[in-house]
Amino acid sequence: TENSSYETILTSTNGRVATITLSRPKALNALNLQLTAELLEAVEAFDADPEIGAIVITGSEKAFAAGADIKEMATHSFADVYAADLFGAWDRLAAVRTPVISAVAGHALGGGCELAMIADIIIAADNAKFGQPEIKLGVIPGMGGSQRLTRAIGKSKAMEMVLTGRVMGADEAERSGLVARVVPVASLQSEAAELAATIAGMSKPIAMIAKESVNRSYESSLSEGLLYERRMNHACFATEDQKEGMAAFVEKRQATFTHR
Ligand code: HXC
Repeated sequence: TENSSYETILTSTNGRVATITLSRPKALNALNLQLTAELLEAVEAFDADPEIGAIVITGSEKAFAAGADIKEMATHSFADVYAADLFGAWDRLAAVRTPVISAVAGHALGGGCELAMIADIIIAADNAKFGQPEIKLGVIPGMGGSQRLTRAIGKSKAMEMVLTGRVMGADEAERSGLVARVVPVASLQSEAAELAATIAGMSKPIAMIAKESVNRSYESSLSEGLLYERRMNHACFATEDQKEGMAAFVEKRQATFTHR
């Protein structure tokens, strides 16, 4: 099913998978305020829907997103961007609890690379190009690039990219751990849909717990993270889906999760 109430994104659902497609083709999907607001509204609505088990964010074959909208912010003052807390709204995407996959083809630059990295998993087309070119514009990343890229690929490569604006191709991105997998551009959407459907076929509360536990590793010491994981593992035993999942294994049949 499709929803056409948005102007800068397209949304659709197929079973338990929701897809949000950035759609400002004339600006290579640059993230202006309208697109940001529409994407966040759509993603939060899908996150709140118990019938949705995974969300795919994607762009076109030419561009995932070429960054924040430079034309929109070019004349802003410090007072403007500080008062508006420009880019602060993206914390709402990071707070989404349903698994989110970025399916990236073409340019993922600046805010586009940062948007891709806010998701839980990046799948890249073989033509994907990742970069943080902000320094060439006289600014630095503002949607998490200096932090998430460093955690994803390590200090030396992240420093090189953030200090020079060098763009990284899909193969290097896979080698560096930025993306989970590289696929031919023609099969990006089907591969992303299949991955999302696999995740959406799991128990939603368990997938949410799993996502929260992996994310915890960014926010805590190893011993705190291990304790969190163990307690959340224990909590899984309070769900009907744990009973079903283990019973199905024992009975040599496919599990049917009720997401409870
Ligand atoms: C606004 C953009 C845009 C952007 C492209 N466009 N990127 N508009 N903001 N980030 C527009 C172009 O102005 C142009 O509009 C149209 O999209 C097509 O782009 P072209 O440059 O003609 O396409 P091409 O020659 O194929 O080059 C593609 C490109 C280049 C290499 C991706 O567009 C580019 O370098 N874009 C900027 C990338 C960037 O610096 N991103 C980081 C932004 S800063 P017209 O009207 O001329 O047809 C950021 C974080 C900021 O994201 C945080 C700190 C404040």
